[in-house]
Amino acid sequence: MLKISSPGRINLIGEHIDYNDGYVLPAAIDKTITMTFEPNGNPHRCTIKSKGFDSILVADLRNLEKGTEGWHNYVLGVLFEIQQLTNKLRGFDCVMETNVPIGSGVSSSAALECGMAFGLNELFDLGLTKWQMAKLGQRAEHNFVGTKCGIMDQFSSVMGKKDYTMLLDCMTLDFEYIPTAVDPYVILMLNTNVTHNLSTSGYNTRREESSTGLAVIAKRFHTKNSFRDIDLSMVEACKEELGEIRYKRCRYVLEETRRVLEACEALKAGNLVRLGELLYESHAGQQHGYEISCEELDFLVEFSKPEAQILGSRMMGGGFGGCTLNIIHKDAVDDYLPRVSKAYKEKFGIELSHFITVPSDGTTILTQ
Ligand code: GLA
Repeated sequence: MLKISSPGRINLIGEHIDYNDGYVLPAAIDKTITMTFEPNGNPHRCTIKSKGFDSILVADLRNLEKGTEGWHNYVLGVLFEIQQLTNKLRGFDCVMETNVPIGSGVSSSAALECGMAFGLNELFDLGLTKWQMAKLGQRAEHNFVGTKCGIMDQFSSVMGKKDYTMLLDCMTLDFEYIPTAVDPYVILMLNTNVTHNLSTSGYNTRREESSTGLAVIAKRFHTKNSFRDIDLSMVEACKEELGEIRYKRCRYVLEETRRVLEACEALKAGNLVRLGELLYESHAGQQHGYEISCEELDFLVEFSKPEAQILGSRMMGGGFGGCTLNIIHKDAVDDYLPRVSKAYKEKFGIELSHFITVPSDGTTILTQ
């Protein structure tokens, strides 16, 4: 039986930059969805069983409409988008199980979308490339889920490579594998266990604000409609016309893009201290400039600042909840975790959860 594994992702730095023609520095992680696939002989009927939710989605390939239960739309969207590219899809049975934390900013959704596309590509010999799978996953999210996401998550889930982050140029889609060994430090994810319901609407609003801001600047300076073609002085020159919100959004995009490139240089030079500083700067930008953080995330980042053994910390992913990413000395983890968990519980009445992760391989076949 075909069995595949599809990972979630982290992003070292570069948030809300993928849909703004910037650069990002993500990696696939060792938290995965495992999926089995079998053709069932029926031309149209598909069953997808989630062990975690203990529920089964039954889909008819002739009639793929939006579903009602959270995870269904990711699957239905992928089936729909595959059908736009090929007519080779037939009925199948799929069972899935996950250890990717859900709603935590590590993209359990891309893991699901890309795992589904990858598995079906193998099962029915669809001939899709990795980029086609990533892009159809993104379209599924736009058209069926309603989040106007960028390409970072699906790209990371599909292209990930053990021990490497990936510097992705989101304008050209060129990318480079960057060796990412942080020993004696580790990447510690602290999960706030909150998802503010702003996440989809807030996400789309940010996208709207940055793109309308960009249009104002591009018009004034007769440049192409791309953040790649403008600089901070142009943003300053348009400050009044942009208004406070769009001004802040556009500044953030340019500053965060610069930070990603600098972080990549720091990583290549083995300068983890500089990398850590950039993470803190990035968080400040997310908190005040792009305004995608929340009280719980800010609390965790502030809490880490006096800790000599933590080089950097910031919110990660779409924002409005989810995880912080922390670069912490491996010997300090056991001491830090109970202290930060206690403080977080006292402040918000919520249990903090955590995991340590490493850059890992992208979607792979486990058994054929
Ligand atoms: C979500 C989206 C990505 C990206 C991040 C923020 O995870 O799916 O495309 O925009 O948010 O960096």
